[in-house]
Amino acid sequence: MANVVVVGSQWGDEGKGKIVDWLSERADVVVRFQGGHNAGHTLVIGNVTYKLHILPSGIVRKGTLSVIGNGVVLDPVNFLDEIEQLRAQGVSIDTNNLVVAENAPLILPLHANLDQAREEALGNAKIGTTGRGIGPAYEDKIARRAIRAGDLADRDLVVAKVDKLLFHHNALMRGYGRTELTRDEIVEPLMALAPKILPYVGTVWKILDEARKAGKRILYEGAQGTMLDIDHGTYPFVTSSNVVAGQAAIGSGQGPSAIDYVLGITKAYTTRVGSGPFPTELHDDVGQGLGERGHEFGTTTGRPRRCGWFDAVLVRQAVKVNGINGIALTKLDVLDGMDELKVCVGYRLGDVVLDHLPASSVEQEKVVPVYESLQGWRETTRGARTWADLPATAVKYIKRIEELIEAPVALLSISPERDDTILVYDPFTD
Ligand code: GDP
Ligand code: IMO
Ligand code: MG
Repeated sequence: MANVVVVGSQWGDEGKGKIVDWLSERADVVVRFQGGHNAGHTLVIGNVTYKLHILPSGIVRKGTLSVIGNGVVLDPVNFLDEIEQLRAQGVSIDTNNLVVAENAPLILPLHANLDQAREEALGNAKIGTTGRGIGPAYEDKIARRAIRAGDLADRDLVVAKVDKLLFHHNALMRGYGRTELTRDEIVEPLMALAPKILPYVGTVWKILDEARKAGKRILYEGAQGTMLDIDHGTYPFVTSSNVVAGQAAIGSGQGPSAIDYVLGITKAYTTRVGSGPFPTELHDDVGQGLGERGHEFGTTTGRPRRCGWFDAVLVRQAVKVNGINGIALTKLDVLDGMDELKVCVGYRLGDVVLDHLPASSVEQEKVVPVYESLQGWRETTRGARTWADLPATAVKYIKRIEELIEAPVALLSISPERDDTILVYDPFTD
């Protein structure tokens, strides 16, 4: 029985939410395995749009179990708010279709405070984080002082952990010239939420193991994108978790053998939100046109996304570090009506041409893309249901991308709508 991991192959916002929603028809369980509510995944189903930050995109499908794995950092306030928002949109959510790992670390208000204090102190050198406390929450996890979801059942444990956290965080607050926090300020609001969170808390690794034994299909929903990975991304302009496919196993409590197919979600051009290197970024009308036609504004922060040409070097690197078996190529329709399309096929660094993005942040800023020019198409791709419906030059563009990135297209997306998706290869059954 196939289990599929969906990952972003660029800098996030590739359309993971749309593709996970589409694939979830074939899945029994959808699992988030890293990140937190820094993610923003958009689902468009008929005339209803859902924006999910922490809940797995399977939540809108009846009969699908949604799981938040141990690799996620969970903000309990945001979690409960999002449940309420979706309920208001008619989605049924209860303990039968949503589980949170007992060993998932919590994001507290002090994490968002620290995130924002750090960004402010960095000034122009800021990372451009979502300000949601993701980095500081992962730091506390690694430093072995995090409060985890299951801890909410034990008030004494929470109090002891808060004291440990404050010893560290108040030292930082003093350093940043900010107000120190008291134990009660943290413990009381958190314990007030505990009875609402605890019913969702479960032993995720075991639930997933049982699901696998029962022959259920599991879909792992990545957040962010490969170039934001803490190890493989454009460090330090990255998020604070591993976002690559290998993390699906670690962040859910399954072994690597649980994964049968890795699907990389890939935008037909490139975008990035926040600071950091972006070799193919366009600062001209073409870039602005992509942003306008692609509605490139952050789902979580509303910030305009930076736009540029498709970077085949970067996506090929993502194919390798994730073990991507096939890609879902999204937002092809945004390229409709363009006469010429450029694709980055190498990076010039001084006198040499590189076939990969160097790890050094200094070199990443210096590389100059080597472009190949392809013919665009005037026709619309929207409404296409098969390859035969696509303009010949669009098919050529796709074929060239497949060649350059060394991975085939399994799915093609030509609008935000669930049904505007062309299946070439079914990752679950083919
Ligand atoms: P995610 O973070 O990877 O889930 O992506 P986001 O939801 O943040 O951003 C992708 C945006 O593009 C959303 O507004 C989607 O509704 C939209 N989208 C997804 N696929 C397509 C597509 O094929 N064409 C167009 N035009 N929009 C798409
Ligand atoms: P989805 O899942 C795009 C970016 C932020 C910033 C950097 C670090 O919707 O694709 P963080 O708050 O994580 O510490 O910010 O990472 N970032 C994203 N960019 N899509 C996302 O998620 C992102 N999540 C974080 O903009 O540059
Ligand atoms: Mg997004």
